[in-house]
Amino acid sequence: MKICCIGAGYVGGPTMSIMANKCKDIQITVVDLDEKKIAAWNSNELPVFEPELLEKVQKARGRNLFFSTDIDKELMEADIIFISVNTPTKTYGVGAGKASDLTYVENCARRIGEVARKAKIIVEKSTIPVRTAESIRKIFLANGYGDRFQVLSNPEFLAEGTAVKDLEEPDRVLIGGEESEEGRKAVEVLAGIYEQWVPGGKILKTNLWSAELSKLAANAFLAQRISSINAISALCEVTGADVGEVARVIGMDSRIGSKFLNASVGFGGSCFQKDILNLVYLCEYYGVYEVAKYWEQVLLMNEYQRERFSGKIVSSLFDTITGKRIAVYGFAFKKDTNDTRGSSAISVCKHLLEEKAHLAIYDPKVSLQQINKDLEIEEEKIIYCKNAYEAADGAHAVIILTEWDEFKGLDFKKIYKSMLKPAFIFDGRRILNHENLVKIGFEVYSIGRGKKSRY
Ligand code: NAD
Ligand code: UDX
Repeated sequence: MKICCIGAGYVGGPTMSIMANKCKDIQITVVDLDEKKIAAWNSNELPVFEPELLEKVQKARGRNLFFSTDIDKELMEADIIFISVNTPTKTYGVGAGKASDLTYVENCARRIGEVARKAKIIVEKSTIPVRTAESIRKIFLANGYGDRFQVLSNPEFLAEGTAVKDLEEPDRVLIGGEESEEGRKAVEVLAGIYEQWVPGGKILKTNLWSAELSKLAANAFLAQRISSINAISALCEVTGADVGEVARVIGMDSRIGSKFLNASVGFGGSCFQKDILNLVYLCEYYGVYEVAKYWEQVLLMNEYQRERFSGKIVSSLFDTITGKRIAVYGFAFKKDTNDTRGSSAISVCKHLLEEKAHLAIYDPKVSLQQINKDLEIEEEKIIYCKNAYEAADGAHAVIILTEWDEFKGLDFKKIYKSMLKPAFIFDGRRILNHENLVKIGFEVYSIGRGKKSRY
């Protein structure tokens, strides 16, 4: 059997690498328009940083895993085609700022129709609005490509930073198919592949629309938990409660559970905001306006949390940060990834730059070019540092924006000595030992705990 996956991004690359490791009898080729990206997948400098991913790629590459730009050839030969291209928020026209931009998915569907001759299963791996499968089928039929294609929805639930583990031991695999004999057959073919490493009970088979909607709903629920605990964190700061303690209490209720209750400077990433906006757009499209408003609030709370954090930095530093050096620890949207899409660091840093701060930024995996691109600034506007100590040297404040493990093990006495006094730390991830920092002499502000200082 041959599989072709269109899109060698954060989902396509890791997903197919794990599938190739688990199913040695299937030949898998990941294709992309981006030549540089494909060249990187064929090298040892992968375009995606994920723990353990390089080893997985190296094991399968050249055996039954290939990366190529020869898209048409692979589309022609494949039995199953995964569409794993980007579906960003539309920036123009109808639905701008909310709806999904399906241009890339549609281009794939048209190309498949033009090139493919034999019957195939087309799998939507990208996150898309409900009823996209219908549009894809319409494109096939209306262009005379026949009905030899079965469209399945198989949304991906991996989280970045833990992609390898999430793919090897998924909580569940979801496959949606048409309610027809051919549809059911296609679902069984795809389920058969996953069954090579995922227990049968974890493979859920639903109709197409449930599968498409479940993905948006799952992300909305996860993001909602973060916004809920972040909302409580603001209240903690003014009442003297500690959000860590509150989260522990709430999370021990087995009906609620302890995961995704870490208050933070706000959630980032390429999915939560985009998918909730998409959900809100769908609600508006179908006229369920109250539901749209309900989910929109999750995003408003996230924005509030980011603004609250940057506001706290300015007010604590005596209402002005003009010309002050501020050390920024972490720029990725979470630890263990080089991805910065939607990172709260972008909005916080933009705010601080508007206030004319000098930012000294250190992230173990994010490049200077990426930071400049995200902040929409030219070279030289920020100080890009090789390590955390260099960033803190001569700074008024250190702010933690990503929860990289290495930040927990830093020598904060050394950092304190190298900073201007009073030396401030703003912990946007609640990862440091605040009592120790206060003992060293720092003025500490933490999300959900408020200010702590000797004075
Ligand atoms: P990405 O931007 O990292 O990768 C998409 C790739 O598709 C790009 O390399 C792009 O060049 C390529 N592409 C676009 N159009 C193409 C075409 N016509 N032919 C060939 N290649 C084409 O995106 P991603 O993060 O991998 O996300 C892909 C999809 O998966 C999105 O719908 C996203 O919502 C969903 N998803 C993402 C995650 C995540 O953690 N990133 C998790 C679950 C689901
Ligand atoms: C998310 C979903 O978890 C995943 O199932 C889906 O397939 C894609 O979207 P991802 O965005 O990669 O994955 O990472 P995730 O771990 O969900 O974190 C998203 C953001 O929320 C990060 O900025 C993270 O730091 C933040 N977060 C997460 C919190 O602030 N608090 C938490 O308790 C958990």
